[in-house]
Amino acid sequence: MTWRAQAPSNLALIKYMGKTDASNQPLNTSLSWTMSNLISEVVLTESAQTQWRPLDPVHGTQSMSLSETGRNKFLKHFDFLCRQWGVEGSYEIASRNNFPSDCGLASSASSFAALTLATYKLACERGSKWLDLNQNQLAALSRQGSGSSCRSFFAPWAIWDEQGARAIELPVKEIIHHVVVVSRDKKGVSSSQAHQRVQASPLLKGRAERAHERLHLLLNAFEDSDWRSAYEVVWGEFWDMHVLFETSSPPFGYMTARSLAVLEWCRAYWDQHDDGPLVTMDAGPNVHVLFRPDQLEIIAKLKGHFGDMVL
Ligand code: DP6
Repeated sequence: MTWRAQAPSNLALIKYMGKTDASNQPLNTSLSWTMSNLISEVVLTESAQTQWRPLDPVHGTQSMSLSETGRNKFLKHFDFLCRQWGVEGSYEIASRNNFPSDCGLASSASSFAALTLATYKLACERGSKWLDLNQNQLAALSRQGSGSSCRSFFAPWAIWDEQGARAIELPVKEIIHHVVVVSRDKKGVSSSQAHQRVQASPLLKGRAERAHERLHLLLNAFEDSDWRSAYEVVWGEFWDMHVLFETSSPPFGYMTARSLAVLEWCRAYWDQHDDGPLVTMDAGPNVHVLFRPDQLEIIAKLKGHFGDMVL
């Protein structure tokens, strides 16, 4: 008997950075685009002991690997859900992404959302409680495993604040996402560690207000179809987060010379054409670029310049 679920990844334009407690309550509101083509899948099977293994990879991707910390975090969340829903016994947890896991696309959001959904299916059959949870309640539980996963329950846009995550209706319905992969190295500081380490930055004071202000500016920009303002807000937002990293004590960071070269290309494109992509970076060196469907020519130019690095 197996229990299977899939969930998409998401990319924050207003970032979740900093927590107010150990259950991943965010310091500030965040807003994300759900990348419905980037999927994680989790399969649970009854087994002699509870353990994780990679599922056979989807054609064209490598088998998923998890660090020991990553694996423990995943198993801990499964254990938490089983206790929550009264599920007894031990299970093998197998998972995979349909996208390369070493390319700077956060797989933790989609993996934890898929794990929560698969465990919910298991609990509905095997748990000791009668369950009838909605997406918001499932997202709230998933958040406790990995914060950003709660936004993966809603599409195409999700907003997450102290009341939880939910869908938000915006006039932008279609976005083409690419990531310029400047490095495939494992990162030295995980995003979970980054949330803790930014506590030491003097600039964390006022961070929630800044993120809130940007959220409003961004929502207005989308309402007004003002793509340039959206670009400027999203640009300022990821820099704000990276400055928190660099002003922490001790400072840390992800930006490399190659990241800067991509950022510079995007900024120059905007300066010369008064148009371009929305640009953002997570806790990693790779650069995410978001295009409107009518910007295919710019995508071709980006690919012409950065070649195979553009995924
Ligand atoms: C930079 O959700 O990975 O991607 O709650 O500790 O699992 P934990 O952190 P995580 O943090 C994601 C941080 C980010 C910004 C974002 O996705 O909003």
